[in-house]
Amino acid sequence: MPLVHLSDMINHAYRHNYAVGAFGVANLHFLEGIMQAAENCRAPVVLNLIESHFDNYDFELLMPAVTAAARRAAVPVAINFDHGTSRASAERAIRAGCNGVMVDTSALAFSENLWQTRDIVTMAHTCGITVEGELGYVPGVDGENARNHPGELAYTSAAEAVGYVERTGVDCLAVSVGTVHGRMKGVPKLDYSRLAKIREATAIPLVIHGGTGLSDEQFRRLIANGVAKINYYTALADVADRSIREYVAANRKGGHSSLLTGVRDAVREEAERCLRLWGGGGRAAEVLAQCRPWQEVEHIMLYNVSSTLSEIELASVMREGTQLIAAIPGVRGIRTRQTIQSDGKYQHCLLVTLVSQAALESYHHHPAQLRFSHKALRPVLADHITLDMEER
Ligand code: 13P
Repeated sequence: MPLVHLSDMINHAYRHNYAVGAFGVANLHFLEGIMQAAENCRAPVVLNLIESHFDNYDFELLMPAVTAAARRAAVPVAINFDHGTSRASAERAIRAGCNGVMVDTSALAFSENLWQTRDIVTMAHTCGITVEGELGYVPGVDGENARNHPGELAYTSAAEAVGYVERTGVDCLAVSVGTVHGRMKGVPKLDYSRLAKIREATAIPLVIHGGTGLSDEQFRRLIANGVAKINYYTALADVADRSIREYVAANRKGGHSSLLTGVRDAVREEAERCLRLWGGGGRAAEVLAQCRPWQEVEHIMLYNVSSTLSEIELASVMREGTQLIAAIPGVRGIRTRQTIQSDGKYQHCLLVTLVSQAALESYHHHPAQLRFSHKALRPVLADHITLDMEER
């Protein structure tokens, strides 16, 4: 199961002077193309789910496929929620299976950006989730992704970055040094000396947004100055688009699936080019050996209730309780079950799935869980056992 901690993956790249590719997943064709690219060149890879794209697909429907692709891969994978705009959306992404969140409050005033990011870091770190903050502003210029990033470019200040990193506790920092989201207009000028100062001041891995349109040499210099993750989407959308247009131009007839046949390969080719160029090719084995696996855990309670409790009363206790604990960050799902055998030792089961061991520890001490357990559940229990389980 090569899902790994995102911060371990990025730190490995940072220590070894390469950058992991973080590619926007727009649909299943993108997902397959990106995964094939990573497998072909044995590179670690980040699958980015971009919040502003959720109008185009059902996030909760796509995520099981993204998770399945990661789990069956032979290369290390992390799943990142990109450009999340609120704590609620970060919690939603964690619940859906992302093990990294990027907080996009960089258009706000410095102090507001700092407080909102810190709040999300505090919540996410209790679940072991990696958090990327952004300081400065990377605007959109042209292309599908550009309209989600209105406004003017604002460069990241090294002096502000130190305080921001220290006070928020982010694991990596997205910086603005001249890149833009979407296609470039003209040749972008990148401020490498600013980047070097930010690197020296913060000493954490840096992230580039707006990878589309940069030259090979620009990528090399960004990586040489501390960039350990590169976000890339528009160029993948453009090659996918071109593949469809070329098919239509050459074939007046043809069904829906024939139209899309070239998309996966076009995405694969472009993603593979990037992964090799950014230095991730051939790194999969060492990343797998050196990064902690990312693993869900389950908290199970088997129980019997007191004989005076009616089915309706039990259902009401469990409904209220499961609503309370479902809102705890890091809880992925809750199921209640009843035994099939009438002579079984326990008649009922409560099964809580959590995103990680860290999330389980924080769940055990969470006030909502304690309230449910001590005030509502314990008084009606006859006997019970609890077990915490992980996959081996
Ligand atoms: P591009 O679309 O410019 O490649 O940028 C992608 C990005 O930064 C997503 O966070």
